[in-house]
Amino acid sequence: MRSGPSANALNRSRALISEASRLVCLTGAGISAESGIPTFREAKTGLWARFNPEDLASEAGFRRDPLQVWQWYRGRYQSVLRAEPNLGHVALADLQDRNKNLQILTQNVDNLHERAGSKSVRHLHGEIVRCHCLACGKPWSSNMDIWESPQPPDCSCGGLFRPSVTWFGELLDADVWQQCLWAALACDVMLVVGTSGLVAPAAELPFLASDRGAAVVDVNPEETDISRMATQWLPGSASKILPKIVLG
Ligand code: OAD
Repeated sequence: MRSGPSANALNRSRALISEASRLVCLTGAGISAESGIPTFREAKTGLWARFNPEDLASEAGFRRDPLQVWQWYRGRYQSVLRAEPNLGHVALADLQDRNKNLQILTQNVDNLHERAGSKSVRHLHGEIVRCHCLACGKPWSSNMDIWESPQPPDCSCGGLFRPSVTWFGELLDADVWQQCLWAALACDVMLVVGTSGLVAPAAELPFLASDRGAAVVDVNPEETDISRMATQWLPGSASKILPKIVLG
């Protein structure tokens, strides 16, 4: 981990954010890391360093072994329920309270932004609390918490319910993607927090915003393609940096 950002870099970022008229924030797994939810690509601790995404995060993997996939997401759901939003999530919720134009676009499926108080969040990669039928697409609508079931429940059509998260090889929800794309193309400042920027198309959003003239502020302890392109890279953790640049 590198040394933290300079006072100048923090001041400049705070000014960009407070003066933005169309502010967008794109978040990734890093913002939830300090809530105890593992990221995906960090060496040793990342989920994809320990588990095979082809087995666990693809339709083919689910068709091969639905029980294994269900149980893996059930464990993740349970750890998300145990987790609490951290100061990074809270800082963004406070900012959205003061700046109703702030649009939060997240790749995370954990709903910690909402639990911190954010009212409007667009979910690029779905939400782990939701499930739908693999065969007919019907959403799970019973009052029963579907994750109480130790195996994927059967749909009335004969298919199996699966988590409503985007798997490898799947397209993003078209409406959500359109809304995120428009937000990125229209913003004058994009704050990016805790993403490696390795998963398209979400990773394209900061570059599209920048191409249209927006300033990009990136909060990430590690250097990435986004931090190299950003107007301002703030090396550090979300829970320490965000309160400094969005409050006061
Ligand atoms: P990654 O695991 O690829 O990247 C997490 C990023 O967070 C890394 O760049 C870390 O350096 C950074 N990071 C770690 N701790 C941090 C902290 N405390 N504060 C700020 N940043 C921190 O996660 P994503 O970029 O979100 O897809 O991954 C994108 C998608 O790949 C995920 O949405 C997921 C995965 O496959 C689906 O679930 C569909």
